[in-house]
Amino acid sequence: MRIDVLTLFPEVFGPFLESSIVGRAVAAGVVSVRCVNYRDFTHDRHRSVDDRPFGGGPGMVLRCGPVFEAVEHLRQERPEKPLVVLLTPQGEVLTQALLAELEREPWLVLICGHYEGFDERIRLGLGARQVSIGDYVLSGGEPAAMVVIDGIVRLLPGALGHEGATGDESFARGLLEYPQYTRPRDFRGMGVPEVLLSGDHARIEAWRREQALARTRQQRPDLLGPDADTDDRKQDCGV
Ligand code: ADE
Repeated sequence: MRIDVLTLFPEVFGPFLESSIVGRAVAAGVVSVRCVNYRDFTHDRHRSVDDRPFGGGPGMVLRCGPVFEAVEHLRQERPEKPLVVLLTPQGEVLTQALLAELEREPWLVLICGHYEGFDERIRLGLGARQVSIGDYVLSGGEPAAMVVIDGIVRLLPGALGHEGATGDESFARGLLEYPQYTRPRDFRGMGVPEVLLSGDHARIEAWRREQALARTRQQRPDLLGPDADTDDRKQDCGV
């Protein structure tokens, strides 16, 4: 898979792309990630990438020119068309399902904005999909691009070193993950649930399922849908 990141701050991606699972996947050629500074596609003396909004209002807006030229430059390199993604709080909120969808794309171009936002023609003209990493506003799209890259890369075959590892984890089956324990059996007086030491795989499986459900009901009832929600409220009221 190939991922190009259009950013004004390519230097912030360095350690991220060299460390941990992403670093190993890059080194192994499972994914190739390149950062391109779209300021390099400006033609004025000040190398400006933003301008005041038509109609007035606070802040600055990212101009079309440098972003279009950077994308066109990348597209000259390959005959295929990349999926262009704008990182913006206006976007579709990132979920595990959306990561799985993006992981199937052979080529992504992630565009990190700054300032008040993008000129709308960037989205329209590049046919871009908009992605948000949550309902809060960051000062730039770079942390969001790293979240998207990390979430995608660990799904790529060969990235984790142990296939199937992503099948059981939180969200993969619509539930949060069950509690996990490792050695020692006793840590400062805190033990391990007896069932996990029993060697009875059917009981362990049932316990994990029950724990995953209970945890999801408590922490994220929204994941269980509106019916489960109502049942919980009924239980809370003693109905
Ligand atoms: N840029 C600024 N805030 C963002 C968010 N929440 N998600 C994605 N990109 C952003």
